[in-house]
Amino acid sequence: MNKSSDRQSFTSLGPLVGELGVPGDKSITHRALILAALARGRSVLTGVGRGLDVAATARILGSVGAVVAGDPAKSQLEVEGCGWSGLTESTDVLDAGNSGTTLRLMLGVLAAARGAFFLSGDASLGGRPMGRIVAPLRAMGATIDGRAGGDRAPLMVRGSELTGVDHVLPVASAQVKSALLLAGLRANGRTTVTEPAASRDHTERMLAAVGVPIERRGQWSSVAGRHEDLAPVARRIPGDISSAMFLVVAATLVPGSDVTVTGVGLNPTRTGALEVLEAMGARIEVGSPVDLGGEPAGCIRVRAGELGTAAIDAAIVPRLVDELPILAIAATQATGETVISGAAELRVKESDRIATVVQGLKVLGADVDALDDGLVIRGPCALRGGVVDSHGDHRVALAFAVAGLIAKGKVEVEGWHAVDSSFPEFLGLLDRVGRGGSPR
Ligand code: S3P
Repeated sequence: MNKSSDRQSFTSLGPLVGELGVPGDKSITHRALILAALARGRSVLTGVGRGLDVAATARILGSVGAVVAGDPAKSQLEVEGCGWSGLTESTDVLDAGNSGTTLRLMLGVLAAARGAFFLSGDASLGGRPMGRIVAPLRAMGATIDGRAGGDRAPLMVRGSELTGVDHVLPVASAQVKSALLLAGLRANGRTTVTEPAASRDHTERMLAAVGVPIERRGQWSSVAGRHEDLAPVARRIPGDISSAMFLVVAATLVPGSDVTVTGVGLNPTRTGALEVLEAMGARIEVGSPVDLGGEPAGCIRVRAGELGTAAIDAAIVPRLVDELPILAIAATQATGETVISGAAELRVKESDRIATVVQGLKVLGADVDALDDGLVIRGPCALRGGVVDSHGDHRVALAFAVAGLIAKGKVEVEGWHAVDSSFPEFLGLLDRVGRGGSPR
């Protein structure tokens, strides 16, 4: 692997072998930090990753009243919570960087705080739709303004006394659901959210774990309002299954591989990609189950094997939405046609992932077509080398890194720095399993 400027190159390695853990789940860490800030007292989070998205949430919480400290090398963060009443206006514009989860969840929290807050992000985040969260928060009584009538960041939110809503999401989104439930904790009356398909439920599990009564029936969740400060927690964060899946797919595709990822989150609202790979014939075993503060975790062992195809449609997309770029790489090596549909949400992620994945796959010679709401990939196909642009999207960069491990030539990922959003540890872990798991 060579690095020149912001380009990282990947070529085929020998078998990937060994046992390793991945850094803490990004979605769970954002929520743990936020709930810790809304508590009075000291919370300790262990197993957190060093990604920039999580750092953005920590920094924003620090700007509005909590004290977040810790040693990233030790994967531990300590939060001195300020409680709801301790949330205060900041002279800073609150910069969420590349992180949609940070911006949307904090919008929900700050809608219920006292004062005016200014939230911003990078160019990618500034292009992503915010109306889906701004509209229901306004219906609850929040004052929010911003570009495009409040549909685009930068946004200004003036927190106020809120009233609960009964909101039906047109598209499943854990970010929107979570923001409304967080705002609903302080609102008058109940806040109820119904989704068309189940999205990740970390917020619901974590609220229940800190003693907030939350009612759940299928894709319907509801909290009563007027909550006081939450209770501080000591919590171990499970490994991020979305990060683990890059290594799982790499081990499936690189002949002779045998990799075990330990301590990884196995929340059923996040394991869709594992199920799809199993349906494609991947050799996956899941074991050693543990419960980490209401979140299931365990080990995933994966050995290299041949793949067939499996359909991916709207019913499962929310349970694997972040894994679609790496599943597309897997599909290039599967025998038959893989159709991914019902995934129009991909167009409004950190990049338009339908366009950026199709563009990169075409550079590598894959047989792929874009759909309005997905992709069609015909395999198996011997990928060639080439220069692929990440378009600043961490999951696109990581997916093409894995493509480089099986391509006939060198794959260079332009804009490699994007991986720092979620998985800066990737190269080190790949290096480890590439050397058979032995330390340097
Ligand atoms: C996330 C929810 C998903 C996902 C994102 C993280 C979360 O987004 O793509 O990476 O932590 O709630 P949507 O809720 O917009 O689908």
